[in-house]
Amino acid sequence: MSANPITLVIFGASGDLTARKLIPSLYNLDRKGRLPDELRIVGVSRTAFTDEAFREKLAPATKEFVKGEWSAESWTSFADRVHYIAGDAGAAGGLDALKADLDKAEGGTPGRRLYYLSVSPELYGPIATRLNESGMASPPSEEAWRRLVIEKPFGKDRATAKALNKTILQHFREEQVYRIDHYLGKETVQNILVFRFANTLFEPLWNNNFIDHVQITVSESVKVGSRGDYYDHSGVFRDMFQNHLLQLLTFVAMESPARFSAETLRNEKLKVFDAMPVYSAGEAAEHLVVGQYAGYRGEKGVAPDSRTPTFAAVEFSIDNWRWRGVPFFLRSGKAMKDRLSEVVIQFRCPPHLMFPLPPGQMLTCNRLSICVQPDESIHLDFQTKVPDRETMRLASSDMEFHYKTSYPDAPIPESYERLLQDAIAGDASLFMGSAEIERAWEIMDPLIAAAERSQPEEYAVGSDGAAGADAYLARSGRSWLSLCQHG
Ligand code: BG6
Repeated sequence: MSANPITLVIFGASGDLTARKLIPSLYNLDRKGRLPDELRIVGVSRTAFTDEAFREKLAPATKEFVKGEWSAESWTSFADRVHYIAGDAGAAGGLDALKADLDKAEGGTPGRRLYYLSVSPELYGPIATRLNESGMASPPSEEAWRRLVIEKPFGKDRATAKALNKTILQHFREEQVYRIDHYLGKETVQNILVFRFANTLFEPLWNNNFIDHVQITVSESVKVGSRGDYYDHSGVFRDMFQNHLLQLLTFVAMESPARFSAETLRNEKLKVFDAMPVYSAGEAAEHLVVGQYAGYRGEKGVAPDSRTPTFAAVEFSIDNWRWRGVPFFLRSGKAMKDRLSEVVIQFRCPPHLMFPLPPGQMLTCNRLSICVQPDESIHLDFQTKVPDRETMRLASSDMEFHYKTSYPDAPIPESYERLLQDAIAGDASLFMGSAEIERAWEIMDPLIAAAERSQPEEYAVGSDGAAGADAYLARSGRSWLSLCQHG
């Protein structure tokens, strides 16, 4: 007996995300034999397409963007799953054709449905509402299910995120809602938890007794490209900090959950956010540096006098027993020198050094670096004796782990593969809960307001971002670090 049908309905099917990420990831999952046989994929958007035309549009994009092999045979077999229905979720009766299609395909069986909102954010609420109005939000029986996957951005501040949660939760229960942060789908981000909680070696040191400070850098070499209009209303805080950087921070800082489950992980992440102070306007201004890359104001869709930051560096603290007194320095920007996401843990220096160092030589104290991308790796920096010197000399050595050499046969997949597979399987561990999203905005709101009041410092394209960020760290005798680039 075949299982009840599962349908993945993609709203916004003619958009970029569908062509570049969702379909290539689903195709790859299919190639690996990880999609349930009974899964159909139904694209929905306003443009009219036949199933055939829709598949033909997706084939070249999949070929171009898939991480891994592409073959015409496996595409043909995958494409059989893909269908298309034109629909306008914003209009009354706009989902009637979709409803009819789903009801027909399910043939009265308890169908399972995943609604993926890959649409403009102002449509999230209306689509959730429309789905409920058409009787498509509640599962008709216990075996059936309905899930709603929502892309970022989830709100643009705390108030809008709260309002959106309220609307969505009028129509769907919290456990039906899967809010995406694609950083959580990255293998190396999940590996932070494995590294911390599946080893005994590091956790005893993972606190303010041994750690001087933490740095989290997400630098991108790309500019805003064709997304100038979106980006100019968003800026680096809404685009990168509220979600990706703060999520990375929670993985570094959280306590060990009892189990790897959505509820326990969300609780621990929320505790980290709860321990982070919400800055006053004055504190926010003191703890941030903002920059804008040269030429940004000439980008398509960007206001000629825009003050939107394309780079920022922020200092956070986490006021709990583990982290009290350990600054977390976060920075992110576009049009920078490197594409690099890295977490650096700077350990404290030894309390006393018995080795006389030659004049001018400073001791490099232990550092650990988790390279999230592009060279997925971990580096541990420690001191060694340089052999055969007249006097004692110390030098840093790097102990390295690289995914590509340790797992040569398992290339790192696209993060959407993990997230889609989990959403189909009903595992929400790597998705964000309503409370943590709202709290993350609460933390960011004063920083966004402070940035809006300041004039961003211009930085050169291909640089390390605003020089003010270097000066900021130098004030406490520190500097931005990267160990990833060694590899
Ligand atoms: C997205 C942002 O969420 O993340 C983009 O909207 C950014 O501006 C992207 O470029 C970065 O993701 P990744 O996976 O390339 O680091």
